[in-house]
Amino acid sequence: MSHEPTRSRQDVSSSGNSPNPSGSAFEGRTFYIKTFGCQMNVHDSERMAGLLSAEGGQPVTEPGAADIILVNTCTIRDKADQKALSDLGRIRQVRKDGPGTVLAVTGCMAQREGEEIFRLVPDVDLILGPSQIRNLIPLLDTVSGERTRVDGTLWPVPEMTTPPALRPPGVSAFVTVQEGCDKACAYCVVPATRGAERSRPIGDILQEAEELVSLGYREITLLGQNVNGYGQKGDTAGASFPELLRRLSELPGLLRVRFTTSHPMDMSDDLLDVMGSSSRVMPHLHLPVQSGSDRMLAKMQRGYTLETYRRWVGKLREKVPGAALTTDLIVGFCSETEEDFEQTLSVVDEFRFDGAFSFIYSPRPSTPAHAWGDIPPRQVSVERLERLQKRIEQQAMERNQTLVGSDVEILTEKWDPETRIAVGRTPQFLTVRAAVAPEDADPALGSLLPVRIEQAARAGLKGKALPHA
Ligand code: SAH
Ligand code: SF4
Ligand code: F3S
Repeated sequence: MSHEPTRSRQDVSSSGNSPNPSGSAFEGRTFYIKTFGCQMNVHDSERMAGLLSAEGGQPVTEPGAADIILVNTCTIRDKADQKALSDLGRIRQVRKDGPGTVLAVTGCMAQREGEEIFRLVPDVDLILGPSQIRNLIPLLDTVSGERTRVDGTLWPVPEMTTPPALRPPGVSAFVTVQEGCDKACAYCVVPATRGAERSRPIGDILQEAEELVSLGYREITLLGQNVNGYGQKGDTAGASFPELLRRLSELPGLLRVRFTTSHPMDMSDDLLDVMGSSSRVMPHLHLPVQSGSDRMLAKMQRGYTLETYRRWVGKLREKVPGAALTTDLIVGFCSETEEDFEQTLSVVDEFRFDGAFSFIYSPRPSTPAHAWGDIPPRQVSVERLERLQKRIEQQAMERNQTLVGSDVEILTEKWDPETRIAVGRTPQFLTVRAAVAPEDADPALGSLLPVRIEQAARAGLKGKALPHA
């Protein structure tokens, strides 16, 4: 496949933030972005879309129709690598050939593999990691202008400015408050792929939130690997995470503030106090425990014991009554015994999580645990995961049943005037489908709608909207 350049380097605008400059080399060029991985990656894709459209690029929904294809990868577990590689295999078959076309691999797998990607997927022109997103436009210029493959992971990490994001229209938006991670969990590849932890200046966050409200968004979800450690690293003018939440909850028009992920080591009474006292900070804490065994927690280098975690759960229950608690769990970590695993099952019973993401440990290159080996046989871990997930599901079902007959408030995210069904989430982040009576007003997107829960099915909660304005 040939990648002939269409222009010389100097024709190309290298400004990432100039809004649609006339004569930009990206004017009219189409782009397609495929995203894998977590919310941070989803938001990184929104930022890359924002940078390209600010230069005049046009988003398309099919890779075969795109001049520029970006595959934004995840590498958290081996399966994530496999998914991205198989998608790349498909995409390289359909990509447009010829001058000015670019196939770029971005995200965490690109950062971890570096130029190995060029060997794994022969048609790739450009790779760049999450920290180089602000370099996207100059990197694309270089690829197009110099007829070479470019390894952007070798470029210096630019300063932490805010690239414009192109978000899908809606009521809820992601806002980054912190990038990278300075924790060193033995199994985790994120510190290697996203670099050192740094917090965004509070003024930038507040300004972005204000702009989002003026565009009609009513909820924001603050993103970071350890959001509650906000302010520890980086120039935040002394602001802490609870302070940031307080400031955001005072913003006129912003109805709901959420955040993910929190780390047990960065919990504070102040955070729980803000959650308990502000009606706009949602009562939902995602606090990964990872394991119920202190031996495993120490080996994982999580930095806390189960007792510390238990204390924070106790305080959450006391200071934020009715709050939802969700978590992440890993089974089959190095040397995990049946007894360790049973301790994980018993914390699930004890804390009655409202939801949990659970995974089989996947050894990752460039992590400390990679060399340790001693992982349980695959079949044992598969069986542990099944037992764990069954128990979590059963608890979620029981919890949903207790909600039947209660009244909740959802933020209307979807409204179908034909079926008169509104869809939204409760403050605790449960999705509800609500029937709106013909005599009641149509709910506006982004408005709060009172709902009586009538049914708890496997697929979620159903109810009827109560008379509303
Ligand atoms: N920063 C967050 C989450 C990061 S990754 C935190 O500290 O909790 C999301 C989840 O993926 C982790 O919480 C963990 O449960 C899981 N995970 C990370 N690395 C993994 C690995 N190598 N194998 C299996 N699961 C892993
Ligand atoms: Fe990974 Fe641990 Fe950092 Fe979370 S806190 S991103 S699990 S290293
Ligand atoms: Fe997210 Fe995957 Fe990277 S979970 S941080 S995209 S490795």
